Amino acid sequence: MNAKRLSARLACLLVVGLLANACENEDPFPSFDELDKLQQLHTMPQHPPRDTTNRFADDPRAASLGNRLFHDPKLSSCGTVSCASCHDGDGRTVDKPKADGCNGGVTGRNPPTILNVDYLRWFMWDGRADRLWNQAILPMTSPVEMNSNPTILRTQLNGSYMGEYTELFNKTPDTTQDDELLANVGKLMQAYERQVNRVNSPFDEDVKRFIAAVDAGTEKDDPAYLGLKTYFRKGQCIVCHQGVTMSDNLFHNLGVKDSSPGAPGQTAAIDAMLDWKFNAAGPYSDDRTGQDATRLNTVRSTLGEKRAEMDGAYKTSTLRNIALTAPYMHTGELKTLEDVVEFYNKGGDEVGTFSGTRTETIKKLDLSDEEKKALVKLLESMTGTP
Ligand code: HEC
Ligand code: HEC
Repeated sequence: MNAKRLSARLACLLVVGLLANACENEDPFPSFDELDKLQQLHTMPQHPPRDTTNRFADDPRAASLGNRLFHDPKLSSCGTVSCASCHDGDGRTVDKPKADGCNGGVTGRNPPTILNVDYLRWFMWDGRADRLWNQAILPMTSPVEMNSNPTILRTQLNGSYMGEYTELFNKTPDTTQDDELLANVGKLMQAYERQVNRVNSPFDEDVKRFIAAVDAGTEKDDPAYLGLKTYFRKGQCIVCHQGVTMSDNLFHNLGVKDSSPGAPGQTAAIDAMLDWKFNAAGPYSDDRTGQDATRLNTVRSTLGEKRAEMDGAYKTSTLRNIALTAPYMHTGELKTLEDVVEFYNKGGDEVGTFSGTRTETIKKLDLSDEEKKALVKLLESMTGTP
């Protein structure tokens, strides 16, 4: 920290009692605390964190088989819908609010990207899956997505993938019981998805350069200054979109207009996730240390006090590759990044149009046109190279 910044900061601390507001205006960006958070935003690890609940998570044979299964529409009951039907293209999602599944089915929510997905802690907008392999069971068996079942999967595995499956799992698809078969196919999908990442982005370079400029005392001249400052201060984005994934891995109610049956979000999903036979504490996990049971029990024991907050709450999205994944929010109601910034600027959708109570952080922001543009530019810089 250079001397100029340090003295400004100290002067600020001295007058803080008298002139709190004036001081806030003068407080140089970034403060010590903000600099710390900036340092955590850049440079994602090249690989997602280990997942001990899937012994094949990093097995290249599993990833290669998973790749073929991910793209195979014959795993669906209608024969025309694969995972890739809804998670393809640059953004690994679809470009409309809802996606089409088997027999005219339409999904209840906007498909999130699968890029960098295994860096996240919870899956689905409402967090109803706690591991990437068990997540895959949900679209396979959903009547509006692939509408599949273990019999269909078994037939297809026997036909086209028998050798590879048997080599990995030491049993044939025929001798694998139904639930185990679903979990196994999920584990193959996860091994593949863990390789579908876009990690290095111009954003990372910008943040690194900006931090160097802070050291040199020239941060105000840096092209990233206004965008980052707005992200941290007036925009409050950093409160939730933090760390290298730019997600706190928590759930918040932003007040996104939604009158669908799924509108209560996390409240409606949490009990089912905790009691789910496929969760990471269940019999299909490959981690026998019991650490997941402990973790889920902690979630369970604090449920009472949190339940009200969970109503209408959704997972904080990763912002990595965000320019590739329009439209936005769990409903897909916002078409562009400009629309997203407008949404936050007005403090969310109208009260009465969503479930639960909006979190206090979301309120009118009063951003200038310049600040809005700087935020959009910042979001656009988060696109990674494949
Ligand atoms: C018909 C479209 C469709 C199909 C087919 C489909 N998905 Fe999805 N996917 C979605 C939607 C919609 C969501 C969000 C659902 C929700 O949160 O309620 C989603 C969510 C996900 C997520 C969670 C991402 C996150 O950030 O939480 C992953 C991972 C995923 N899908 C992988 C898959 C895999 C693997 C398959 C195949 C087994 C698959 N999807 C098939 C539409 C689809
Ligand atoms: C209180 C926590 C919180 C704050 C503050 C916040 N976000 Fe979010 N953000 C979320 C959550 C939660 C979602 C998903 C909400 C939903 O769909 O209901 C989200 C969704 C988004 C999305 C859409 C993601 C997608 O894949 O559709 C973008 C873009 C975004 N936020 C950018 C921002 C920006 C820019 C700011 C600052 C102006 C900001 N966020 C402030 C929690 C937050």
